[in-house]
Amino acid sequence: MKTKLLFFFALTSGFSFAQSPPATMKAIVIHEYGGPEVLKYEEAAPRPEPKENQVLVKVIASGVNPVDAAIPSGKYAKVFGITLPVVPGYDIAGIVAKTGAKVTRFKIGDAVYAYPMWGGGYAEYDVVDEAETALKPKSISFVDAAGVPLAALTAWQALIDNCKIDKGQTVLIHGGSGGVGSFAVQIAKVRGAKVIASASTKNQDLLKKLGADVAIDYTKQKFEDVAHNVDAVLDCVGKDTLQRSYAVVKKGGIIATIAGRLDQAELDKNGIRGAQIGVRPNGQELAEIARLIDEKKIKPVTGEVMPLTDAAKAQEQAATRHTRGKIVLKVADEPKS
Ligand SMILES: NC(=O)c1ccc[n+]([C@@H]2O[C@H](COP(=O)([O-])OP(=O)(O)OC[C@H]3O[C@@H](n4cnc5c(N)ncnc54)[C@H](OP(=O)(O)O)[C@@H]3O)[C@@H](O)[C@H]2O)c1
Repeated sequence: MKTKLLFFFALTSGFSFAQSPPATMKAIVIHEYGGPEVLKYEEAAPRPEPKENQVLVKVIASGVNPVDAAIPSGKYAKVFGITLPVVPGYDIAGIVAKTGAKVTRFKIGDAVYAYPMWGGGYAEYDVVDEAETALKPKSISFVDAAGVPLAALTAWQALIDNCKIDKGQTVLIHGGSGGVGSFAVQIAKVRGAKVIASASTKNQDLLKKLGADVAIDYTKQKFEDVAHNVDAVLDCVGKDTLQRSYAVVKKGGIIATIAGRLDQAELDKNGIRGAQIGVRPNGQELAEIARLIDEKKIKPVTGEVMPLTDAAKAQEQAATRHTRGKIVLKVADEPKS
């Protein structure tokens, strides 16, 4: 089956895994900080070379995250250790084209997905640490898989690693229709929790489809009027939404935020814990997420799919914070199966 898939991929893409990958590639490159105009599409950018613990991935699709829109400005250059020129993009799905000398878990031709810590996803090739990489879920397309890693890992690390959500608990998820929230609702349901989730009017149907037990339309209803004494809050919105959340958590409960700064005084006053989430790449967790996707327990929600050349437009859209599911850049044709 895999041989057949690779054969078709080679036929349709003109790429052969028997050849070494080309020295240059199509990519979106930032040479200087500024507005969206600094995202330059290049036909012959230098292709990265994998280090001994890395795989080179022939990217089929690359997910777009809200944080991507802050990369061109240089705002996060220090935090993310960025030096120019840089290729942005923190989500990829593709096929292993080359392996570093110490790589043992992957081989050329494997379909994989990853959150590459150092970006590079908006390109035909990217390098990722073996430990950051997992086999792609078999049951979904590369485009759908590309929207999974960063967002699903964020939801997983918040709800499972930090909040330790368990059967019978109640969790309130702010922004349940977004990239992270849409995974969070489903992950909390897999863990057996009761889920209360919020989004605007147009996304109420999606919240229900994802499995939310209670859907709140934040444009019409205050979440404090619906959610009381919850075990955990996952805040994907920040600002006022985070500020108003302390009072709805039961004593001993927890607030995890991915989008704001926790207020220790409020945590203490309410007798609750806080978790400030900064997502980290994790190949093992991605493998677990892939299993749940293949078991049809989690379904990625893909929003708009755009060509690589529309990277600036995609980032602009992601920056609105009103995305439904994930925006994905299609870099190459899907291998036919
Ligand atoms: N700390 C980390 O490691 C980490 C990781 C990933 C993301 N983030 C950050 O977390 C935030 C969310 O990321 P994302 O990828 O999920 O963003 P997203 O895809 O843009 O989703 C945001 C969601 O929030 C909803 N929303 C907006 N205002 C709301 C409100 N007042 N109450 C409830 N829901 C509201 C939107 O739904 P409607 O359109 O229906 O309003 C939208 O579905 C972003 O700021 C991102 O940068 C941080």
